[in-house]
Amino acid sequence: MFLIFPDTVSIADYVSDTLINRIKNKPQIVLGVATGGTMEPIYARFVEQVRQQQLDVSQLTSFNLDEYVGLSADHPKSYAAYMRQHLFDPLGFDGSRNYLPDGLAQRLDEHCLEYSAKMQQHGGIEFQLLGVGGNGHIGFNEPGTPFDSRCHVVQLSEQTRIDNSRFFAENAIVPASAITMGMQDIMDAQEILLVATGQSKAAIVAEYVKNDITADIPFTVLKRHPKAKIVLDQAAASLLPEDLRQRYQAINS
Ligand code: GLP
Repeated sequence: MFLIFPDTVSIADYVSDTLINRIKNKPQIVLGVATGGTMEPIYARFVEQVRQQQLDVSQLTSFNLDEYVGLSADHPKSYAAYMRQHLFDPLGFDGSRNYLPDGLAQRLDEHCLEYSAKMQQHGGIEFQLLGVGGNGHIGFNEPGTPFDSRCHVVQLSEQTRIDNSRFFAENAIVPASAITMGMQDIMDAQEILLVATGQSKAAIVAEYVKNDITADIPFTVLKRHPKAKIVLDQAAASLLPEDLRQRYQAINS
């Protein structure tokens, strides 16, 4: 199901409130967390609310969706650095409960197996936050990725590398490959919230509605999840049929 909000500010409020409720219900929650521009206002609001409410977040565990191959955790463009900047440092996390794939792992396949196994040892993801790529990817599961995949190494598509080049310096090369949680790892989460904002996501969101579940548009797999929500701003929802846009307006927006 969709929830359509007026703007990214109201989305940040909604997602932050949701996270806070889940953490209040279960301080030891295992979260699946995402990176990317979409998450920045959400994490900023969450950090602000945690501080205002003096919420104890010290017991939660997090697993990141993905990491670039070849970037160390210290590299400023690694997802590890992104997480420290936007979430872990502001919340005072020392990283001991915050897992990310290691972009410098020597034996990548073994590392991927360990990463999926570690999630399972923690009882699996209870609440998974997702963004979506312009081609429908979730994590870095590019179009065509089998639905039963676990954590694996992926060659990034040209579109994804172009989309993500905005995060890198002008002449820097976007890594060609990444480690990502698999489609099945994501679908195993008890609850999923995917957020898409901005005009650049409108076309793929419209494709989600037009198509049945297909590996060509990875996030269509969410149609099969019993507790998945897709949260949109007006821009991302702008190419949806009018009746759907009316039906899914968030109540207090
Ligand atoms: C990136 C990340 C995804 C992210 C998506 C959207 O490539 N691997 O995890 O959700 O693409 O990114 P953005 O929010 O910057 O549009």
